[in-house]
Amino acid sequence: MKKVLFGFAFAVALPLFAQQKPVYLDASKPLEVRVEDALKRLTVEEKVAMLHAQSKFSSPGVPRLGIPEFWMTDGPHGIRPEVLWDEWNQAGWTNDSCVAFPALTCLAATWNPEMSMLYGKSIGEEARYRNKTVLLGPGVNIYRTPLNGRNFEYMGEDPYLASRMVVPYVQGVQQNGVAACVKHYALNNQEINRHTTNVIVDDRALYEIYLPAFKAAVQEGKAWSIMGAYNLYKGQHACHNQYLLNDILRGEWGFDGVVVSDWGGTHDTDQAITNGLDMEFGSWTDGLANGSSNAYDNYYLAMPYLERIKSGKVGTKELDEKVRRILRLAFRTTMDVNRPFGSILSPEHYEAARRIGEEGIVLLQNKGGVLPIDLNKVKKIAVIGENAVKMMSRDGGSSEAKSKYEVVPLEGIRKYVADRIEVDYQPGYSSTASKSVNDSLHTEAVKAAKGADIVLYIGGMNKNLHMDCEGVDRESYNLPYEQDALIADLSVVNPSLVAVMVCGNAYAMPWHKKVPAIVQAWYGGTEAGNAIADVLFGEVNPSGKLPFSFPVKIEDNAAHAFNAYPGDGETVEYKEGIFVGYRWFEKEKIKPLFAFGHGLSYTSFDYGKITLDKKTIKSTDNITVTIPITNSGNREGAEVVQLYIMDMESSLPRPLKELKGFKKVNLAPGETVKVNFTIGKEALSFYTPERHEWVVEPGKFQILVGTASDDIRSSATFRVER
Ligand code: BGC
Repeated sequence: MKKVLFGFAFAVALPLFAQQKPVYLDASKPLEVRVEDALKRLTVEEKVAMLHAQSKFSSPGVPRLGIPEFWMTDGPHGIRPEVLWDEWNQAGWTNDSCVAFPALTCLAATWNPEMSMLYGKSIGEEARYRNKTVLLGPGVNIYRTPLNGRNFEYMGEDPYLASRMVVPYVQGVQQNGVAACVKHYALNNQEINRHTTNVIVDDRALYEIYLPAFKAAVQEGKAWSIMGAYNLYKGQHACHNQYLLNDILRGEWGFDGVVVSDWGGTHDTDQAITNGLDMEFGSWTDGLANGSSNAYDNYYLAMPYLERIKSGKVGTKELDEKVRRILRLAFRTTMDVNRPFGSILSPEHYEAARRIGEEGIVLLQNKGGVLPIDLNKVKKIAVIGENAVKMMSRDGGSSEAKSKYEVVPLEGIRKYVADRIEVDYQPGYSSTASKSVNDSLHTEAVKAAKGADIVLYIGGMNKNLHMDCEGVDRESYNLPYEQDALIADLSVVNPSLVAVMVCGNAYAMPWHKKVPAIVQAWYGGTEAGNAIADVLFGEVNPSGKLPFSFPVKIEDNAAHAFNAYPGDGETVEYKEGIFVGYRWFEKEKIKPLFAFGHGLSYTSFDYGKITLDKKTIKSTDNITVTIPITNSGNREGAEVVQLYIMDMESSLPRPLKELKGFKKVNLAPGETVKVNFTIGKEALSFYTPERHEWVVEPGKFQILVGTASDDIRSSATFRVER
């Protein structure tokens, strides 16, 4: 009897138990099986609801099925403070501070993919702790003009450098079960008229310069989401663009993730349905702009879409495709049962921010060995400049972070020297004061400089409008607030002058011959001041390299040489084609102020001779390049060994140098290391618009290895045979 009862209970319980776990919730099932199972349980209304925002930074899940809401956050330098449900204004939480990491130009300047992994992992942990689904970053729009207000958020002018640096960032973030959202796809290379400008660019420049970092993020980084840009391409807004989204991103690259609109980047329901957009955000967000309190229902992908479906005007094929992608996002993030828990404001994150900041700082010039500062030789330091005391993780637009604290440069310097020597501070200028106030600040600063053993000028730009700031571009290539005159005057009264420049863009330096040492310090985030002090006093040997060229004057930049910026508000034509950044300087033999890849160290490096393992290869073969590098100075240091390729016999014009490899090596004094590179099809090919493919043409190639794009130390040639 007992046996029968047990058997009966088992027979009843088993199916019940089995029913408890629907397929879509069963993590042991393949992703696509779970997606299809969830999809078939959804109503059309639930599906449409998933396509658009329900608040400033969130979209609904499906509560009935236990599918959580989707929460987005900026990105890319720190986890943005919470904003009100319906507004950009901060919500006033007291527990939403974060670690502000250095801006992405600084990360790019490390030329170290390990730093990128550390960055992604750390910021991903903070995003996860704050329970975010998607981190809106990193940004990889190519640096086309120094006037772009958003350059500080991106990874420089070279597609290869940006590609190598974006991949580990994405992987590091996503290890945490948080999606990276690579932005702004594509051709968002200026802020001025960003909503209305249609970019005209030839296919070679598109494929060789503007797309590679996105492609690498998708194919190698396996990014789970991507953000459409504000601008237009081929007459369609990038957020719903047949060419960029359907043809290239999904068709050519096989992207299976979610396309998120930029906030307010959606403009048309029909295009949004057919041209590849999945999630619409920020179309209007104060509940008022469309004159009703249910503004989210009026989004392009909300009621207007539902009405079209209900009236039979459009089918549900696209809807199901969009929802599949959104479900994939849920399973990869909030519904991943193995998702880690994250952490925030941890000692490890502060340490990561400091290390990245230190490695990214670029020593541009160091005449007469002014740096590092020897504390035994100075008694009095004058620190001058507003940026010595300005917190820079604030402002600048959507990338602003509410860092729990920020060590500003003056604080970092004072902390380092402690009471060993006297440190005087003078602002020298004020970004907010009147002309007369500025005149007296100028006078006071010059006076202070006169009486000091060494002057540390800490200036540059800030995150105010028309500086390094989203939404607008710079109005001048010169530094603001009459800093050029101030620096020149300081150099007259004290030749021991170090310029520490805090900004994310290139600028004119009419004073560069009068200032022996120039340090490009970027925006260093929470630990900025400590990183700067470590470099100035030699605690850290600088090893950063420029991720973009510094032209002497703005007309030396290609876009400006062609008068091809900013366009007329409706169109901008990238007339320089593939000759962006150093590719243009090399072609035109223009000497930059500081070249792409430039950066000095407190030690010196000797380059030996390149050897190649073959002299002739087939187009599908690899070639191995070896070069010995020696630390010939007397202190430990890291060098970024850079490899450029030149195609010497080509049917189409090609740049004289294209970066195709780099390695950062750390060497003790006297130590030699052999650095190897493997060069193959990807490094040798160019994009042919006619054949719509990448080809390696037979002929002679040159490999150039050096310490900067304008400082090649050894080269060798080889042939590619048919
Ligand atoms: C920016 C994006 C940002 C979004 C949300 C937009 O204005 O272009 O980069 O992620 O706002 O803040």
